[in-house]
Amino acid sequence: MSGTEHTIAGEHRGEHYSQVLARLSRNAAVRRYLEIGVAFGDIFSGIACRHGVAVDPEFQLKTNVAANKAKVSLFQVMSDVFFEHLNLRRDIGGRLDLAFLDGMHLFEFLLRDFFNTEAICRKDSIIVMHDCLPVAAPMADRDPMQANARGKGTPYENWWTGDVWKIIPILTRYRPDLQVMLVDAPPTGLVIVTGLDPSSRILKRSYQSIVEEFSRLPNTTEEIARLYADHPIVPTEEALRRLGGRSYAHGGGWLRRLTG
Ligand SMILES: C[S@@+](CC[C@H](N)C(=O)[O-])C[C@H]1O[C@@H](n2cnc3c(N)ncnc32)[C@H](O)[C@@H]1O
Repeated sequence: MSGTEHTIAGEHRGEHYSQVLARLSRNAAVRRYLEIGVAFGDIFSGIACRHGVAVDPEFQLKTNVAANKAKVSLFQVMSDVFFEHLNLRRDIGGRLDLAFLDGMHLFEFLLRDFFNTEAICRKDSIIVMHDCLPVAAPMADRDPMQANARGKGTPYENWWTGDVWKIIPILTRYRPDLQVMLVDAPPTGLVIVTGLDPSSRILKRSYQSIVEEFSRLPNTTEEIARLYADHPIVPTEEALRRLGGRSYAHGGGWLRRLTG
């Protein structure tokens, strides 16, 4: 599928994001997984890893988040508080292999979650971000009540992505060294970032000016459509193929025991 075929009115046609993440965790044999914004635990419970770390100021867990894991840590705080107090060795045991960022749906929050997460990754870790490929403009409203009102009577009623799509032009401008893949996972896409540089301080140092600059970028159909026009949209199967073959497990015995 080409980027231009996929207009803002089109829906993502790949595998559901929950499946993509579950498969990714198995393909990459993940030891340490971080999820920011966990809610009911639907995604978290499908992840196979040795140690799962969940951050949410208000857990509403309805699933077995311990499934497929040897160890689970829950931090019921906002992500900024989590990172401020984090002791990597004590709390996680080492650098992350895979992270899923799905907390507050405002671009400045995701920007902070991204640079704070990258700092505790390795070069070959994977960061996945949710909701950055809205399929209609109302769901991207910064105000969830407004998004609901504007989406009423459409197929996307009650969908709220906020304006986290702006992370894509931000990374394109400020971090051309990263590999950023826009993935066709329903309902609102996944953005998968690899080739990380945990020592990079560019985003953190430029945070205030980035927020000022990108607050001025209109949150409109035209700008979101430009995103689709400017970047190829990668089918989910192709994304998994490109990310395949990583193994973070030493020996992998623990994974076979947990998932076999
Ligand atoms: C869309 S839900 C997450 C859904 C979950 N990842 C899934 O796909 O099943 C967003 C979650 O982010 C949490 N959240 C909101 N602000 C946050 C923040 N500042 N830090 C971390 N989590 C936050 C909310 O409490 C909510 O549970």
